[in-house]
Amino acid sequence: MAEFFEVLKTRRTVRAYTDQPVQQEELHDLIRMAVLAPSGMNAQPWAFTVVTKQDVLRKLNGIVKDFLRTPAIQQVMQSYGMADRINHPDYSIFYNAPALVVISGDKSNPVAMADCHLAAENLFLAAHARGLGTCYMGFLTMVRDNPTVKDLLGIPEGHEMMAAAIVGHPAGPPDGPPKRNPPRVEWVR
Ligand SMILES: Cc1cc2nc3c(=O)[nH]c(=O)nc-3n(C[C@H](O)[C@H](O)[C@H](O)COP(=O)(O)O)c2cc1C
Repeated sequence: MAEFFEVLKTRRTVRAYTDQPVQQEELHDLIRMAVLAPSGMNAQPWAFTVVTKQDVLRKLNGIVKDFLRTPAIQQVMQSYGMADRINHPDYSIFYNAPALVVISGDKSNPVAMADCHLAAENLFLAAHARGLGTCYMGFLTMVRDNPTVKDLLGIPEGHEMMAAAIVGHPAGPPDGPPKRNPPRVEWVR
């Protein structure tokens, strides 16, 4: 159990990866850990799309970068001080990771979004416990309605992308412990 808390305390977002691919069986194993997450009514409304084809990742990166260049999004990125980073011609939303895992959820299930994110967190922690790195792909989820994106990912009928993460072997040592503000806690007793 102590080891589990160590996994929680040391997981960080990884944005630099080696060229080493992640074995298919290892990715499968992470998904087996992901689906141990709780889900509303145990409906398990998730499906997993694993992309290791670099050509598909390149196309998705291009679509997301075009979207990030739109004026409304640029304004938001500027307000977060992120515009310079994402506008750099060498920036890839996938940080050259060898694998992308997209979790799509059944659109007719009202709590699928929560379920898919609980599964995603399981996957993050399981990956870290195995020495793999992950990064949530928020920019990719912003283009979930783009028909080309849906096509490239083969999102199942009736599903939509709800969470996404890259997975790979970290290129360097992990960053220090997560930087967190003390939690705001209101007690009602
Ligand atoms: C909903 C969500 C969206 C995110 N989107 C991105 C993203 O598109 N690109 C990226 O590099 N990091 C993304 N992140 C990673 C966060 O920046 C990161 O979790 C945060 O800075 C805290 O760092 P830590 O994960 O190392 O503790 C996202 C995280 C979450 C939870």
